Amino acid sequence: MMQCTDMHDRYLLRLISKRVFLYTEMIATGSLVYGKCFDQLEFNVEEHPVGVQLGGSNVSDLVECSKRCEEYGYDEINLNVGCPSDRVQKGKFGACLMLEPNLVAECLSNMKNAVNIPISIKCRLGVDNHDDYEFIQNFVSIIKESGINVFVIHARNGILKGLSPRQNRSIPPLKYDYVYKLKQDFPELEIIINGGIKNIDDSLTHLDKVDGVMIGRAAYDNPFMLRDIETKFYKTDSSINSKKEILNLYLEYVEKQMLNGHSLSRMMKHLFGLSRGDKYAKTFRIKILEIIKDNNLKNYKKELEELLVY
Ligand SMILES: Cc1cc2nc3c(=O)[nH]c(=O)nc-3n(C[C@H](O)[C@H](O)[C@H](O)COP(=O)(O)O)c2cc1C
Repeated sequence: MMQCTDMHDRYLLRLISKRVFLYTEMIATGSLVYGKCFDQLEFNVEEHPVGVQLGGSNVSDLVECSKRCEEYGYDEINLNVGCPSDRVQKGKFGACLMLEPNLVAECLSNMKNAVNIPISIKCRLGVDNHDDYEFIQNFVSIIKESGINVFVIHARNGILKGLSPRQNRSIPPLKYDYVYKLKQDFPELEIIINGGIKNIDDSLTHLDKVDGVMIGRAAYDNPFMLRDIETKFYKTDSSINSKKEILNLYLEYVEKQMLNGHSLSRMMKHLFGLSRGDKYAKTFRIKILEIIKDNNLKNYKKELEELLVY
């Protein structure tokens, strides 16, 4: 998630769950190839298993970026065919590519042939008025010819004109039944459902029908929810770090990364959600804002810890 799941956030999430699969924010191939910004691909070794998400539709750029992503050590490369923003449409990538399945399949098969790590796609159910089941069924049947078999599906249509990316994440209705039907029609594919999934209980219900669940906002807003996934899904024992331990381990990391020139505010904002549901959640968030404003962490560490209940 852009502006959210950067390398620091992923480090924090990994302190809570050892096993959930994490993804980077979408990285545009243009900014890597023409902006020569390959350092955007850097990540902490602790983040594994981690996939990188690319946005693009130029076959040779996607191939070049895929090779670089493999060299950097990512565990998977995901192609974004779900982002409906105007900027992304102008660059001819994201959700508008759902109208060009043959091009997407060509991109994916070339990416697949260029690397040895899995390639996956993240898409919507359709775009604009292409909202019937036959549209996504046809899309999937063309894409699967590329040889990829992991499909992450945001269970909504994308509206390319007239809705902001934010509205596009809530206004088009969720149609989980379409995703379930895809799994029935393409049992050989790994179908991962996304959109509006809030907790482990929701997730377990979906897992009766599909192969996996992707959680976006709920995990960013309340990272500690990953602990439930660790214990109830992966059945890890309860020796998982407490919130206070997670905070201290993350602050150690922040101090180390500040010495490497990383921004304190960028790293601290990921902690906002850690106190979610706690008695002093609001005060905790205000304290983080103070730290960011003061650009100083040292004097506040103990206070911050005391504001967490557990
Ligand atoms: C701030 C923000 C940034 C996002 N950036 C991306 C992105 O870079 N790539 C992507 O595939 N989806 C992105 N999304 C969409 C989410 O991955 C997800 O598909 C969507 O929010 C629905 O799932 P959720 O209800 O679990 O959040 C973003 C969502 C938000 C809120």
